[in-house]
Amino acid sequence: MPAEHFTDLIAEDMRAVNAVIRQRLHSDVALIRQVAEYIISSGGKRLRPALLILVAGACGYRGRAHHELAAVVEFIHTATLLHDDVVDDSSMRRGRATANAEFGNPASVLVGDFLYSRAFQMMVSVQDMRVMEVLADATNTIAEGEVLQLMSIHNIDITEDEYLRVVRSKTAKLFEAAGRLGGIVSGVSSELEEALARYGAHIGTAFQLVDDILDYSGELEHTGKNIGEDLAEGKVTLPLIFTVRHAAPGQQDLIFKAVASAAETDFEPVVAAMRECGALDYARSRAVAESRLATAALESVPNSKHRDCLLELAAFAVSRNH
Ligand code: IPE
Ligand code: IPE
Ligand code: MG
Ligand code: MG
Repeated sequence: MPAEHFTDLIAEDMRAVNAVIRQRLHSDVALIRQVAEYIISSGGKRLRPALLILVAGACGYRGRAHHELAAVVEFIHTATLLHDDVVDDSSMRRGRATANAEFGNPASVLVGDFLYSRAFQMMVSVQDMRVMEVLADATNTIAEGEVLQLMSIHNIDITEDEYLRVVRSKTAKLFEAAGRLGGIVSGVSSELEEALARYGAHIGTAFQLVDDILDYSGELEHTGKNIGEDLAEGKVTLPLIFTVRHAAPGQQDLIFKAVASAAETDFEPVVAAMRECGALDYARSRAVAESRLATAALESVPNSKHRDCLLELAAFAVSRNH
């Protein structure tokens, strides 16, 4: 993955975060090392740790605990990916076969559990009750989001609000925690902490909205993931929610059938219907609105290079193609 411009400023910090990740990945169990190494070394954008480091920098933080916390956030993220790919039956991630495709579902689930529990060992070592509270709550909410989503598979009647609740839980919550933790380690006021949490939550929401758009309009060589998976598994995301309400009546039947049957041949006609009624543009406009809210949340943060990078990150959440 090409490095994004906003990470240049924190390149040294991110090297330190990666060193923590490597060191804390260790286990005496060979299969754990193999699977964890496999997914971690395949890269990933490291956006959540970058967000935490940038927020801490923007708050003038001078210590080193943020490296550990950034690694914790990336471990939690990686654990959710290992589990998510099993649940979604996905075969491609980060430009290569998913861990479940390579090592099987049981190994993916169990190593995901290892990473979750390792993350909890690491956060305890920071010895800050607030930090543990934030991460415990975030992890719990992510699990709720994934289960909520599971409950709405094949449900074409899901509303935009219900969809957004899933997005805020399964994805935005960890970005929110990253923003909040960057503030907490820096000892900011509770008002500023809330603003930084809001920044993270809006970025995370924009980020998932764009992920859901890219699932219809992206390219495997950029996203590193198979396109069309959401439709294939009957996952109803914003582009589809909009299309079913705005497409011509004939096309609505096509959507119902596609969500119910998940035949691969349905993908192209569904995308055509989406483009025709402006569903992808609509979803993008919602992502842009979230990105603007993220930017607005930074109003009370004093000017700095780190803050500039946070603004760039907000723009990247929407402009990205990977
Ligand atoms: C993928 O997240 C899961 C979503 C929330 C859409 P990322 O796109 O941040 O995954 P990596 O870490 O860069 O692979
Ligand atoms: C994000 O949802 C999953 C998590 C937050 C764990 P997706 O299922 O859309 O993520 P991808 O597309 O598999 O990365
Ligand atoms: Mg998935
Ligand atoms: Mg997706």
